[in-house]
Amino acid sequence: MPFRKLLQGLTVTSLFAVAVLALLGVHTVWAQAGPNTSKMPWMNKALPPDQRADMVLKQMTLDEKIQMVHGAGWGVLRKSSPVPARSNFGAGFMAGIDRLGIPDINLADSAVGIRMAAYEGRYATLLPSTLGAASSWDVDSAFLYGSVIGRELRAQGFNMTIGGGVNITREPRNGRNFEYAGEDPVLAGTMTGNLEKGVLSQRVMNDIKHYALNNQETGRNMVNVLLDKKALRESDLLAFEIAIGISDPSGVMCSYNLYEGDHACENDYLLNQVLKKDFKFKGWVLSDWGATHSTVKAALNGLDQDMPGDDNYFSEPLKKAVEDGQVPKARLDDMVHRILRSMFAAGVVDDPPVRSVVDPFQGRDDAQHIAEESIVLLKNADHILPLQASASASIALIGSHADVGVLSGGGSAQVDAPGGNAIDPQPGGSKWGVPVYFPSSPLKYIREKSPQASVQYIDGTDPAAAAKLAKSSGTAIVFVNQPMSEDRDAATLSLPENQDALVEAVAAANPNTIVVLETGGPVSMPWVHKVKGVVEMWYPGIGGAQALANILFGDVNPSGKLPVTFAKDDAQLPHPMVPGLQPNSSISNGKHKPFDLNYTEGAEVGYKWFEAKKREPLFPFGFGLSYTCYEYSGLTVDDAQRTVHFTVRNTGERAGTEIAEVYVALPAAAQESYKRLVAWQRVKLAPGESKDVTLTMDPLYLSIFNTEKDGWQLLPGEYTVMAGASSSDPTLHGTLHIQP
Ligand code: BGC
Repeated sequence: MPFRKLLQGLTVTSLFAVAVLALLGVHTVWAQAGPNTSKMPWMNKALPPDQRADMVLKQMTLDEKIQMVHGAGWGVLRKSSPVPARSNFGAGFMAGIDRLGIPDINLADSAVGIRMAAYEGRYATLLPSTLGAASSWDVDSAFLYGSVIGRELRAQGFNMTIGGGVNITREPRNGRNFEYAGEDPVLAGTMTGNLEKGVLSQRVMNDIKHYALNNQETGRNMVNVLLDKKALRESDLLAFEIAIGISDPSGVMCSYNLYEGDHACENDYLLNQVLKKDFKFKGWVLSDWGATHSTVKAALNGLDQDMPGDDNYFSEPLKKAVEDGQVPKARLDDMVHRILRSMFAAGVVDDPPVRSVVDPFQGRDDAQHIAEESIVLLKNADHILPLQASASASIALIGSHADVGVLSGGGSAQVDAPGGNAIDPQPGGSKWGVPVYFPSSPLKYIREKSPQASVQYIDGTDPAAAAKLAKSSGTAIVFVNQPMSEDRDAATLSLPENQDALVEAVAAANPNTIVVLETGGPVSMPWVHKVKGVVEMWYPGIGGAQALANILFGDVNPSGKLPVTFAKDDAQLPHPMVPGLQPNSSISNGKHKPFDLNYTEGAEVGYKWFEAKKREPLFPFGFGLSYTCYEYSGLTVDDAQRTVHFTVRNTGERAGTEIAEVYVALPAAAQESYKRLVAWQRVKLAPGESKDVTLTMDPLYLSIFNTEKDGWQLLPGEYTVMAGASSSDPTLHGTLHIQP
C-alpha cells in the first residue's frame, strides 16, 4: 500500500498511537546504543585510565569480571562455531558490559592489512610485508604503516588490532618471517614499536605478538625452546622490550610454544617476571588462539585473557578457582584492570570506531610509498639499472604471474584481494594455504614506463620457452617467488618450484638478466653470479608493481637495506635443517610429538652468527645498493654524551637516501665475537651534498644482561664504534670509553 493511502486510512487516535510507538522506537534504538553514561563517574575523560579502570572494577560482579577474561569462541574462524550476535566478524570477540558503558572488544588480525575483509564485503589495503617495511629502516614509514591499519580498522568497526609480530628471524625459513621485522632486536623492536604506535594513534587498541620464541612454525604447539636467559634477554626478548617500550601496547599475545618446560601462556618467567615486572607492561596478556593450557597455573603465571575463549579455562573453571581461593580475587581484578585501563588509555571507550568507507586510494598511495622505501637493490652490475625508457628497448618479463599481480603472505596475515585472487578469481575470501596475488600488475606498469618499447610476458613454466623469449629481447626480467604462510616453514632456503633452473636458463640466454624476488624472507641464489641485477621486493602490497616500476626506471632511487642476512645456503645456518621438520615435508604444525629445540647459538642470531663463525653470507644484514654512491668520513665519539658523529656525502649524480648504520663491538670482558647494531639514520642527499649525522647510543643497546644480578649491566671499558653502509662494511671506526 502506498504510504499516502496508508496515512489517509488512519484516525487521529491511531496517528497518536503511531507517534508514541515511533518515539518509543527511537528510545529503544537509543537505549541499545548505550546506557546513560552521565551517571558513570569513570566516564570522566580527565581521570587517568588506571583510576577509571578501578572505578569500573568496583561496580563489577564476579560474573562480569569472568566475562571479560575470555573471548566468545572461534566464531567466524571455524565453520561450526557460533558467531556472537555483536561480533564484527573478526578473529576475536569479547563481550562488553553494557550496564557500565564498557564496549565489546572486536579484534581483527591485521599484521599487513585487515584479514577477512571479503567476509563482510569490505575492502582492506594490503601493505608490504612488515619484513619488507623493516627494510626501509624508516620509523616514520612504520608509524604510517600502523596508521593505515588503525584507520581502516576504525572504518570497519574494529577497536583492536591483532598484529605487531616482533619475533626475530632466528629461523630464516620460518613461514611467518614476512609478518615480523627481521633478525636484529634493535631494528625489529624499533620498527614494530613505531608501527603499533601508529595503530594507537587512530584510537584503536594495539598489540605485540607472539611472546615469545615462536621463531618457527614447525611443531609450534609442542616445541620446547631452550635458551639461556642471558642470550634470551639480549636477543629475542630485547626486541619485545623495545617494541613494548615504544608502543605502550594494549595487549601482548603469548605464543603457542614452550620455553624451558612451560607453555608461553603459563610461563611465570616470561609473563610475570620479565613482561610485567621488568618491562613494566601495563596492558593485558591474551593467549594466542588455543594457546591456553590450564586455569590456575595460567592465571597465576600471568595470562590475563583466554582467546578465542571457548576452551573453558577462563570461564566457569576460573570462576570456581576464584571462589575456592586457588586464584586470588586480586589476581582476577588485576586481569580485568589491565583490560579496562587499556581500553580507556587507547580511547575506545570515549571515542569508539565510527563505521565509514575505507579510503582505498589513500591506502594504495600509502602502501606504494612504503613499498618504494622497502625494495632492496642487491646487485647492479654494469649499471644495468635503472632501465632507460627507450623506443628501441625490448623487455621480456618472465614468471611469477607478473602479468597480473604481486604475491602476498598467507595464514592469519592474509588480506583478501580486491576482485579475488588475481591468478584465480573466485567468489568469497582467501583460502588457507593458497597463495594470493593482488591486482598490481608489473607488466602494466612497466609498459606504462616505456610505452614505445616492446614488453612481452611469458609465464616461465617452460624454461626453454622463457629462454627463447629472453634471447630475442634486449633485457630479461625474471620474477621469482617464495609463497610463505603461517603453520608451515620452507624446507630450505632454495626457491621452490624449480625457479633456480628458470633463472639459470634465462641468464644463459640473455646477458642482461635482472631477477626480481617476491619472497617472504631470505632465499639462496645459486645463479647470482650469472645475472646482472637482483631486486628484492618482498611481498610489496597493493602498490607494489607501481613501486617496482618506479625503482626499475629510476623515478625512485632505491634506499632499502636488508633487515635479514641472506645465507649462501642452508649449511651456513646455525641449524642446517629446520629443527623438527621431517625431510620432504613442508607441513609443520600439528603432527608432532613434543621436542626440545636448543638454541645453542644463543644471541648469535643472523649477522652476529655469521661474524662469530667467520662465515661470509650471500648478502649481509644492512646491505642495499643505490643508483648513487655515498662516502663516509670524520667519525668522532663523545664519551660523555654517548654520541657518535660523522659525515655522509652523496658522491654521485642522483639524489638519494642513504641509511647510515652504527655498530658497536663491546669490550673484551663481554666475550662477544660480534658487533651489535645500535643506531642508524636515513640521510637524504642531493648530488654532491654532505650532511653531518649525530646519533645517540642507547645504553640498553650497549649493555649485557647479568643473570646473577637479574639486570642490565654497562661494562666499563673501550667500545669500538663503527659507522658505514652495512654490517659488513663499517668504514669508519672510533672508540667509546665507558668509565667504571
Ligand atoms: C595466530 C595468531 C592469530 C590468531 C588469530 C593464530 O593461529 O598464531 O597470530 O592472531 O591465530 O587468528
